[in-house]
Amino acid sequence: MSRDFLPIVYSCLVFAILSPFSAESALTVGFYSTTCPSAETTVRSAITTALNGENGPAASLIRLHFHDCFVRGCDASVLLNASPTNPSPENNPVFNMRGLDLVDAAKTAVEAICPGVVSCADILAFAARDAFNLLVPGGSLYDVPAGRRDGNVSSFLEAVANLPAPTLNLTQLETTFAAKGFSLKELITLSGAHSIGQAHCSSFQSRLYPYDSTQIDPTFAQMLQGKCPQNATVNGVVTQDFVTSDSLDVQYYSNILNNKVLLFSDWALRTDPIAVTTIVSYSTDNLLNILWRPDFIKAMQKLGQLDVLTGTQGQIRSTCGAVNP
Ligand code: HEM
Repeated sequence: MSRDFLPIVYSCLVFAILSPFSAESALTVGFYSTTCPSAETTVRSAITTALNGENGPAASLIRLHFHDCFVRGCDASVLLNASPTNPSPENNPVFNMRGLDLVDAAKTAVEAICPGVVSCADILAFAARDAFNLLVPGGSLYDVPAGRRDGNVSSFLEAVANLPAPTLNLTQLETTFAAKGFSLKELITLSGAHSIGQAHCSSFQSRLYPYDSTQIDPTFAQMLQGKCPQNATVNGVVTQDFVTSDSLDVQYYSNILNNKVLLFSDWALRTDPIAVTTIVSYSTDNLLNILWRPDFIKAMQKLGQLDVLTGTQGQIRSTCGAVNP
């Protein structure tokens, strides 16, 4: 290699090491600034309009983004509907996903101003950020590096293989997250998303009959039994955080310590002393959540970079529910 190139090579290396959004993913903040300058604001206003004053369901967007990124990277695979050629996509009813209508509303609005430019994977990443902004006390819009392209594969079996089930113990959760490059601390940080949104009875019913009073607060367990009767024909829906239900905050961590969380996997986080240290420090965070909030933002930005398609890979779908013909 010519000596003239060495400084350039070194400066690229330094950039790659120092930049949080390094060459690894090639995503950039403001990716659409020339091709569709109002993409991000259009997503935000479409989501706000679709929510129609009820912000709680915005939680679904954060979960959709998580599911998208953990299976095949953030490529909008979670948004693909079943089709004759793919009868069993990632988004199986067993996961109880919602919020696809919100993403569709955002995509329709963006396509109206810049057809064929903004990927569904980016729209979902922006939408998850906008949900965070709506649900976190005081609001906060973090940067979302963009430039993701949409994939054309979506598989239920891959979803099962890559996503954590609510019955996992801590070792299994750690393994699932480590497989995607996330530490125990990041697992705990991201799980704070369970301070918003809902869960269906089917996701935790097995903990209730009988319940283990060392794992679930008895009063809480009896309240849940009332909402999820043993032989119910309907799969009921329960708020995840009974204290501050639509507020994305650190209440979840107190709920864990009080045995007042719905999922076994939530409770399982307290089974390791190192994890408990993090849970305790988040649970005693100040009103502005100065410990948890920046950690959560950083972890969401990292999540959004998982195995992305960029450049000429994949496609820009015209509608998020189907690959382009
Ligand atoms: C640690 C492993 C995790 C497991 C086992 C898990 C599992 C679940 C389950 C079973 C539900 C309830 C679904 C239902 O029955 O309706 C749920 C809801 C939710 N999860 Fe997780 N999750 C995990 C991590 C995460 C992460 C990392 C995020 C985001 C960063 C997240 C965000 C959410 C949100 C926002 C909801 C509420 C969704 C809504 O209201 O529609 N979860 N999760």
